[in-house]
Amino acid sequence: MKEDSAAQSAKKRIDELTDAVNYHNYRYYMLEDPVISDFEFDKSVKELAALEAVYPQYVRVDSPSKRVGGAVSEKFGQVKHNIPMLSLDNTYSRGEVAEFDAKIKRFLGYGAAEEIEYECELKFDGLAIELIYKNGIFVQGSTRGDGVTGEDVTVNLRTINTVPLKLQKDISYIEVRGEVLMDKEGFKRLNEEKLEEGLSLFANPRNAASGSIRQLDPEITSKRNLVMFAYGVGDYSKENSFNTQFELMNFLKSLGINVNKNIKVVKGISGAVDFFDYIAKKRESLPFEIDGIVIKVNDLKLQERLGEISKSPRWATAYKFSAKQEVSDITGIEVSVGRTGILTPVAILNPVNIGGVVVKRATLHNQDEIDKKNINIGDRVLVERSGDVIPEVVKVMSKGEKGGAFKLPAVCPCCGSPVVIDGAAHRCMNELSCPCQIKGAIVHFASKRAMDIEGLGEKIVDKLVENGLIKNVADIYYLKRGDLRELEGLGEKSEENLFNSIEKSKNISYDRFIYALGIRHVGEHIADLLVKYFGGIDGIKNADVEELSSKFGIGEEIGKSIFNFFRLNSNIAVIERLFRAGISPYIINVSASAENSRIPGKSFIFTGGLKDFTRDEAENIVKEMGGIIEKTVKKKLDYVVAGGEPGSKYGKAVKLKLNIIDEDEFKELIKQK
Ligand code: IVH
Repeated sequence: MKEDSAAQSAKKRIDELTDAVNYHNYRYYMLEDPVISDFEFDKSVKELAALEAVYPQYVRVDSPSKRVGGAVSEKFGQVKHNIPMLSLDNTYSRGEVAEFDAKIKRFLGYGAAEEIEYECELKFDGLAIELIYKNGIFVQGSTRGDGVTGEDVTVNLRTINTVPLKLQKDISYIEVRGEVLMDKEGFKRLNEEKLEEGLSLFANPRNAASGSIRQLDPEITSKRNLVMFAYGVGDYSKENSFNTQFELMNFLKSLGINVNKNIKVVKGISGAVDFFDYIAKKRESLPFEIDGIVIKVNDLKLQERLGEISKSPRWATAYKFSAKQEVSDITGIEVSVGRTGILTPVAILNPVNIGGVVVKRATLHNQDEIDKKNINIGDRVLVERSGDVIPEVVKVMSKGEKGGAFKLPAVCPCCGSPVVIDGAAHRCMNELSCPCQIKGAIVHFASKRAMDIEGLGEKIVDKLVENGLIKNVADIYYLKRGDLRELEGLGEKSEENLFNSIEKSKNISYDRFIYALGIRHVGEHIADLLVKYFGGIDGIKNADVEELSSKFGIGEEIGKSIFNFFRLNSNIAVIERLFRAGISPYIINVSASAENSRIPGKSFIFTGGLKDFTRDEAENIVKEMGGIIEKTVKKKLDYVVAGGEPGSKYGKAVKLKLNIIDEDEFKELIKQK
């Protein structure tokens, strides 16, 4: 009886929290007008997650926890749109826009002097999608596809904060149409990450948004900074009616659907042209890319009369910005080495004015792009500048005398070490000593999760490197008292503290030491696996690419990166100096730390939610006890721990006939903890 009432009050609280979190999410992302602090919001999210873990039977379909955690799929299902999703005719000049207006008037039998009322919106440069809500609940989302059939990307769309899981009103059926975009900032960051990982880049935010929505793993989509703006509807239940496009947009807004605020109703086509000029000025300052405006006849009855021709409505047109491109000559190509060792080719141009900005340099991205576009010094090229993105060379207009494609140097222009090809990137592997990489390498080495040298942050590192006191990470341990005192702004006390934390860092576990070295692609997890499989540095150093890649399924790219790191004498020299300075990393002795022989050396994978642990907690317990956490299901796994609502890993584990255990059995395994 008592339990029942506890369950009842938990259910009530889950309901309250779900509504509250959804409401504050709406205030934050859609109205951009939060009424509680981030701290309070996070507190509610955590309380809800805790209750849901204990009472999974009360988790609501519109729970914010349902945004992530969809299963990874092999391929998307198909969705046939109830009403085809049309596309738009394009116009590029005032003349063409005037012709669009004239045609409408002719079709409707209006006189030339009569003015049509238009509703103007932004033309978002992203991916068209449809969201279906039944009884106010988001049930299915799809891409436009060919307009008739699209792909079922429901689990991915759920991860976007501006896609409400539940509407503010309880309407029985509506198909909302809109565009998914990646903001400029998110795009820049994503490409930086891709470059760092040696992967090929997304050409623009539109491709990035499309690639993110068409990801088979929704967890990746959830990290991609996407936003959705609605611009129309397909089919909807007729309990609501509107007279104009503007009313329709306001109705969508009242449902809690994200509608951009740059919307204007104007009288006559000249008003639409004014809106275009106004938005053109505003374009750069918008956080996402647009490629023009959309002009729509506002009156829905007139829209119906106008109908469509060849898959585009007669009542709307896209008035697009002309591309910001100009032609110039490449006078030279500079190769710079970034903080992470990547060589980036930059074209030096005869200065050219593109949309009001003088452009003198344009990125060529990497060797693949240069080869694909066949670019060399002396070529006449088309250069594009869009938004905040660095100008880029689009294509060659005519080849110069040199002909052929420019080749990146075989040695690093910064330190002279041999350059290694790493996916799409050319990379200097002298990670621990190359002057262009050294600051980043030291900051990483000293960071909290690596050697944890408190007080050795970016500012101090800058000064130490610029004053020639440190040339690689080993030099940290050879600094002398007094060295630092000459540095501007560092008092005696801070110097003392810094020396103490440098000293303390010498006592470090082996996995953190390996992670601290900053080997490309070696994060904490892989560092941990390397130590478990190969013991110390010698084991890792002597392994070949095949062993490194196949031992725990990390793939050849990462295997190569580790192998190459240890082939460079300068890296080995730095490691030896670190050891000589007194660093002697320890290995957690698994057999001594746990008498329980069922965990040390055994590999685990988790799927689904556990009741008594978060995923991180459970994984850390296994790691501390000497077990190995794997991320993908494969034949040689020792344990698959399946919690509530397990994902696709579970299905794979069943297929492979692996040893699947539940939470209670897992608890039994780790009992002495
Ligand atoms: S209305 C019936 N409004 O442009 C007309 N489309 O080139 C269909 N788009 O597939 C769309 N912003 O993905 C409309 N404010 C807006 C838009 C917009 C971007 C996209 C949409 C469509 C494409 C056609």
